[in-house]
Amino acid sequence: MVRQDWRTWPTYQASALGLRNFWYPVTWSSEVGARPVGVQLLGERIVLCRDRGRAYALHDRCPHRGVPLSLGRTHFPGTVTCPYHGWTYRLDTGLMCAAITDGPDSPITGKVGVRTYPVAERLGLVWIFIGDDHAEVPPVEQDIPEELLAHRIAIGGRIQPGRRGNWRYAAENGFDEGHAKFLHRNALWAIFRRMPAWTETRIVRTTDGRWISRKWEAVHWEADFRGLGHWPPARSWPRFLQAAAARSKTPPRTDPRIAALDLPGMVSVRVPYILRVAYAHYIHYEWAVPEDAEHHRYVQLLVSFTPELLGRLWFRIRYLAYIRWVFHGQFTGQDAWMVDVMDIPPERLYRPDASVIEWRRLVEEQHRSPRH
Ligand code: FES
Ligand code: FE2
Repeated sequence: MVRQDWRTWPTYQASALGLRNFWYPVTWSSEVGARPVGVQLLGERIVLCRDRGRAYALHDRCPHRGVPLSLGRTHFPGTVTCPYHGWTYRLDTGLMCAAITDGPDSPITGKVGVRTYPVAERLGLVWIFIGDDHAEVPPVEQDIPEELLAHRIAIGGRIQPGRRGNWRYAAENGFDEGHAKFLHRNALWAIFRRMPAWTETRIVRTTDGRWISRKWEAVHWEADFRGLGHWPPARSWPRFLQAAAARSKTPPRTDPRIAALDLPGMVSVRVPYILRVAYAHYIHYEWAVPEDAEHHRYVQLLVSFTPELLGRLWFRIRYLAYIRWVFHGQFTGQDAWMVDVMDIPPERLYRPDASVIEWRRLVEEQHRSPRH
């Protein structure tokens, strides 16, 4: 019997607004200054603000009349003031320390406050921990792939708020075995990468037990479909392009730091949805940080592990010159299109969706929500 709903994965099913008690990358550190910025994460409105070098995160809602504090500004060091009646909050505790329009002795001062959120900065990004009340806050390093902290790296990346579709659609699209060879077959990024017609895949754990990975057991570059014909169709390319594509079939030597990760497959995933796609010279990481049930903040990083300064510089140039547009633009834009229009459950899964099922199982096993 094929199940048509998600009851098999109750935590997953209940997590339309995301998995709580994880650290999420939210924005570039350089985007957070003295002027407050508002973001939405896991259904909560949050205001980010920097004071004397340190970033803070508070609930973005003035308890007086519900105005977003992100529309306000800092008038006194270490505080943010609501634009409406001037209630002023301490950035570190969230406590209201002055109601300006009611004078210095306003009796409500110190009696109200807003929630604060743990904030950390790593890799040039601001990370926020969205936890349940009284949840233990793990060190941010626990939610960042180890290799990113262990090496000197160069990063190119893109952060897109308001991407349409539930975060789980984005996650399932990321780890889905079936679609890349079809949906992306004509993407610019894939033009020199030969796509198989179909594959036989096994999902395996990485040695540290935190990631699952797609391992190709058999690759079928071409196939005949009875009564229909051959797939893929021959490319009607000019000869020089055909030649270039043929040359690119020799796999390049993998960066030793990437090889040392000893990944069973090119694509792996872990909770709360960190996707890792390892190429020979760099690794793509992505997060789909839930905003609300219909939107997520799409965070893409491309990371070079080359130890040489010149190599890192060259990587940055290539990233800005074309990778950002071709890979983190057109290619993942095709994914965005699908993530926006898909609509599940109900669903009817097929063999390659073992990848999707194993991802849901991983969430059931490794989520940090209280058991229900
Ligand atoms: Fe914020 Fe009145 S609504 S001070
Ligand atoms: Fe894709």
